[in-house]
Amino acid sequence: MKNIVLIGFMGSGKSSVGQRLAERLHYRFVDTDSLIEERAKRRIREIFEDSGEPVFRALEAKIIAEVSLGEGQIIACGGGAVLNPRNVEALKSKGILIYLKTALSAIYERVKNSGERPLLNVPQPKMQIEKLLSSREKIYEEVADLIVDTTGLSVEQVVQRIQRELGEKITS
Ligand code: S3P
Repeated sequence: MKNIVLIGFMGSGKSSVGQRLAERLHYRFVDTDSLIEERAKRRIREIFEDSGEPVFRALEAKIIAEVSLGEGQIIACGGGAVLNPRNVEALKSKGILIYLKTALSAIYERVKNSGERPLLNVPQPKMQIEKLLSSREKIYEEVADLIVDTTGLSVEQVVQRIQRELGEKITS
């Protein structure tokens, strides 16, 4: 059983879609950010603050290498995970990568009140989202096996769309 890997920008719904999809398909749900926090015994925000982004990225790569060895999992990745080609290679070795493509305005609405996203903890978060999104969008699209446009869709609708698109590639 392959893994189903959800990728995309912060606030694109990877964790909520992933949890529901896992329940539906009886897969194990794995959230790489949560595993990093467990392992580091610190919040992501604190890792960035105390140790800096490179330390976070190294922890992220380690967790992804480990998780990628498993099967039959729904894996929700942090938004920057696929910027590292090694992570992409590991995730693809046993997984189908699904990009949850989400419009800037929807992303902003979902993340604006969260203090837990260090990269958006800046004076002008909307501009920052725009900048990061435009530099990442092409990468998300290139590495994805499937792109699901989540614009205007509820979590349930995104889950149903993924199930439909994957068809017999997944076993329920
Ligand atoms: C990041 C996204 C975050 C988290 C970290 C860095 C990014 O995860 O991994 O703050 O670089 O886009 P979510 O996409 O789950 O918010």
